[in-house]
Amino acid sequence: MTEAPLVRMTAIGKRFGSVHACRGIDLSVRAGEVHALLGENGAGKSTLINILSGVITDYDGVIEVNGKPVRFAGPAEAQAAGIATIHQELDLVPGLSIAENVFLGREPRTRLGTVDIATMRRGAADHLRTLGCDLDPRRLVGSLRVGEQQLVEIARALSLDARVLIMDEPTAALADAEVERLFATIAELRRAGVGIVYISHRLAEIEVIADRVTVLRNGSVAGSVDPKVASRDEIIQLMVGRSVAGLFGNGGGDPGKVMLEIRDLAVRQRRPVPGRTPPAGVNLTVRAGEIVGLAGLMGAGRTELLETLTGAGIGRPSGEVLLEGRPYRPRGPRSALARGVAFVPEDRRLAGLVLHHSVADNTMLPALTSLTRFGFVRRALAGRTVRDQLAALAVKAASPAVPVGTLSGGNQQKVVFAKELLTRPRLLLLDEPTRGVDIGAKAEIYKLLHQLAATGIGILLASSELHELLGLCDRVVVLYRGRTVAVLPQASATPQAILAAAMGGEAKETP
Ligand SMILES: Nc1ncnc2c1ncn2[C@@H]1O[C@H](COP(=O)(O)OP(=O)(O)OP(=O)(O)O)[C@@H](O)[C@H]1O
Ligand SMILES: [Mg+2]
Repeated sequence: MTEAPLVRMTAIGKRFGSVHACRGIDLSVRAGEVHALLGENGAGKSTLINILSGVITDYDGVIEVNGKPVRFAGPAEAQAAGIATIHQELDLVPGLSIAENVFLGREPRTRLGTVDIATMRRGAADHLRTLGCDLDPRRLVGSLRVGEQQLVEIARALSLDARVLIMDEPTAALADAEVERLFATIAELRRAGVGIVYISHRLAEIEVIADRVTVLRNGSVAGSVDPKVASRDEIIQLMVGRSVAGLFGNGGGDPGKVMLEIRDLAVRQRRPVPGRTPPAGVNLTVRAGEIVGLAGLMGAGRTELLETLTGAGIGRPSGEVLLEGRPYRPRGPRSALARGVAFVPEDRRLAGLVLHHSVADNTMLPALTSLTRFGFVRRALAGRTVRDQLAALAVKAASPAVPVGTLSGGNQQKVVFAKELLTRPRLLLLDEPTRGVDIGAKAEIYKLLHQLAATGIGILLASSELHELLGLCDRVVVLYRGRTVAVLPQASATPQAILAAAMGGEAKETP
């Protein structure tokens, strides 16, 4: 007889009103295996692991841990049973330090019964170091970038010493170097007999680390495959029910006049903000009809550059920024929008969406001025426009009236995209626009970006995914410590060239 799995879920079902998020799902996790869970946005992955981790307590079906049926009344009980979870939407407390977040609710005590801060800091620093990260554990989580917060979340899960570790898109905000560290950690855990459930939209990752793949589609199991045997095409076929040929589509629009020209842009901060890298010598050009990529490691200053270009920067800019030949110095997102510059931010929760407002209201928000006449929103027109835009991006929502917070992670990202597109921008700034978006929807977004470029919009796109930059962009600008260190045209942009420059290698300049 083979050993009982660590966890066995049988006939799991969950409804949210009319939405059948999970139905009849069977899933098991064995000791020492990485079991990947794949599926399109809204397929039910997060719902399933929210059930396993005790977040959702009202569901159908049975969960067994080590062969015994359990019914968790909350996340604490799941944790006590040895199940640790890294959730897709990070749930850290911004006002607390890294150390406090890692040990939240189970703070080590001194003999006097007070919280043992020194031990907490040491423990947090140790776990972060395993991940190749040397953040000061005293720093407030609210001051961290999304990728850094993700590392803190992972450190917290590691510190639990769990038998089962669930990771819901742990690498969505990580750059390649951090992903490699995480994989090394996963390999160690697997050797130690931990069972791992791993959710990701990055298929290349799955091929590297998964021992087993289960694909969900519309809330049911579409199939289980061995990733060593199944081809990527078969897996995609299971996910979306068709193969996705030519993921990146075709570019090749004719670049037009210069939309954005940046010369020696630097931002001086009165007081440096830890963990932020302001522009310190950025040079780049985006022409109408071009897609220009921004590459760099975490902390290279990509997000800060985009923020500076929307007027949400963190200090006084010097140097020259020209938009369509005229000086451009926005004082905030509104004034950027007035010049036709739209921004899709990295963190949809903080900057992108009002979660308890409806999908429709969120989508309409920035476009309101163009849809308003004599102070009234032209409701019918607005409704139609919003519906069209959501349909164009294949946003999966029960209706435009549901709160955007009830959508799956990837669909929330698509709503952020939709609302910026409705402002009809001339220059589109994108920070990790396909983070958490499934492969079918990615293809749709890439096609859309090409279409937008073909209509003469300029696009500047920051991405941690090299293959995305390579597949999509006419040119890749590499930043290192806030500086432009290389400009690589598509023909000479290889992963090696980008990485070498991103790590501060040779300062190569190709016109
Ligand atoms: N709290 C909720 N209220 C209403 N509907 C919900 C809620 N949570 C999830 N849903 C719906 O359940 C379905 C499955 O969502 P889920 O978050 O599990 O998808 P997912 O596979 O994790 O997708 P993604 O890849 O985008 O993260 C979706 O249609 C979603 O809108
Ligand atoms: Mg999810």
